[in-house]
Amino acid sequence: MTDVQTTRYDDQKPGTSGLRKTVSVFKQPHYLENFVQAIFDCVPELKGGLLILGGDGRYHNDVAIQTILRIAAANGVAKVMVGKDGILSTPAVSNMIRQYGANGGFVLSASHNPGGPDGDFGIKYNVSNGGPAATSLTDAVFERTKVMEHYQIADGHVDLSTLGHSNLGAMAVSVFDPVTDYADLMETLFDFETIRRFLTSDLSLIFDAMHAVTGPYAQEIFVRRLGVNSDALMNATPLPDFGGGHPDPNPVYAKALFDRMFGDDAPDFGAASDGDGDRNIVLGRGVYVSPSDSLAVITANAHLAPAYRDGIKGVARSMPTSRASDVVAAAMGIESFETPTGWKYFGNLLDAGRITVCGEESAGTSSDHVREKDGLWAILMWLNILAVRRLSVQDILTDHWATYGRHYYSRHDYESVAADKAEDVMARLQGQLTTLPGTTLRKETISAADSFTYHDPIDGSVTENQGLRVMFESGSRFVMRLSGTGTAGATLRLYLEAYEPKDGDHHADLSKRLEPIAAIAEDLTNLRQTVGRDGPSVVS
Ligand code: G6P
Ligand code: ZN
Repeated sequence: MTDVQTTRYDDQKPGTSGLRKTVSVFKQPHYLENFVQAIFDCVPELKGGLLILGGDGRYHNDVAIQTILRIAAANGVAKVMVGKDGILSTPAVSNMIRQYGANGGFVLSASHNPGGPDGDFGIKYNVSNGGPAATSLTDAVFERTKVMEHYQIADGHVDLSTLGHSNLGAMAVSVFDPVTDYADLMETLFDFETIRRFLTSDLSLIFDAMHAVTGPYAQEIFVRRLGVNSDALMNATPLPDFGGGHPDPNPVYAKALFDRMFGDDAPDFGAASDGDGDRNIVLGRGVYVSPSDSLAVITANAHLAPAYRDGIKGVARSMPTSRASDVVAAAMGIESFETPTGWKYFGNLLDAGRITVCGEESAGTSSDHVREKDGLWAILMWLNILAVRRLSVQDILTDHWATYGRHYYSRHDYESVAADKAEDVMARLQGQLTTLPGTTLRKETISAADSFTYHDPIDGSVTENQGLRVMFESGSRFVMRLSGTGTAGATLRLYLEAYEPKDGDHHADLSKRLEPIAAIAEDLTNLRQTVGRDGPSVVS
């Protein structure tokens, strides 16, 4: 074991989802080592403990895993379980931590950000409930990185290409199959027999793994266990640079999937996941299900899947996610919660048994089976619902809107804008918040406007400045916030939501229906001119 005198970095503050930087930043001497050592310093129970380790297979994954193994050995970890070839999806890490009672786990991923030598890399620490570390821990880790002077590292190398047990110094290392336990878990939650019958007789499916981590999981679950033909899988081989694309399932980066689903002879059902397998999108023939609607539909229909047969306890959504799930929860008489963006905020509610399902507009949906969002879980939930109800995706949505009303919804991203300009836009809106209520703009009267503060009902913690909300009497709304996951400049997100009650028009053109709300947002913020853009970089 070597004790290395290190050079500190001052930029190791984890964002919405761990420490995410370009590969070039991570390749600086001691950069990863410092961050990992800081975690060991802040989580003493890892000494003598069990750790889960894996990532989405992106460039630098293999190098980083060897480094983490060597630091773990030097810090007295008793055992590390690492996915074969260093592969583990984010929800699979969460499941492994829970299933094997591990003290924690590392997820190596920059999620949907591009990979490769010029792409991004990331590391996130998950705690013993399987979920991302709370802000109190990530803050402590950041503070530690600013004062630490040494890290400990052992010598050695682990062959990750062969299943089995070995040792690195005194630490046991187990290289395991990353797919089986996760696929088994899915089989306990959903009615695979009914889904299999439906998929092999009535429903055509395509799934786009985007050359990212879900390829092997999809192969096992869809092809081997559910009988789908393997040509239904697109881009199912994980590649370190994701084939040069962004593994982000949105209309821009999953264009081939969208083209198929909106083209002639579209299959009945299309879906995709992201780099590390925690996100999902669902499409029907000629229809895209907004993630906010997906959460609402799942809330209303989860009881059709075996594990949720007795009903769900409650539902939570992140603040910018549309309020569609609130309406379902109210009708069902269950609790609903609004949390800040970031999966970690669902952890307490899940652990306390207050909610069963939760989701975010950013294509994340999951339940209490793990403590991460789970792309394949959401897709299987949809398949289970479709297989029982025997309706098309469009018919499910149409029926849902007729029952609960529709929240037309869209997110406009202004990516990589100058950080000071983005701050100016936020400050401009923030400065008007107190005077807005009661004002009528473009025939919409503002009922409330605020900067979102979350009071965690379980531990009483308070999280401020989580985005600006402008609410209208019509039930419509817009939200503006700065992304916490970007690595270049700032990304401003504008979330538009227009409510149409259950007897209204649910089939209007989406952008037309949102136009007045978008125009008010522009009036109030002068967004486009301030950041010097004609329009958003991505609309989803
Ligand atoms: C990650 C987090 C999510 C979050 C998303 C977008 O995927 O796990 O919880 O919703 O990033 O975050 P951002 O701060 O970029 O809007
Ligand atoms: Zn992800």
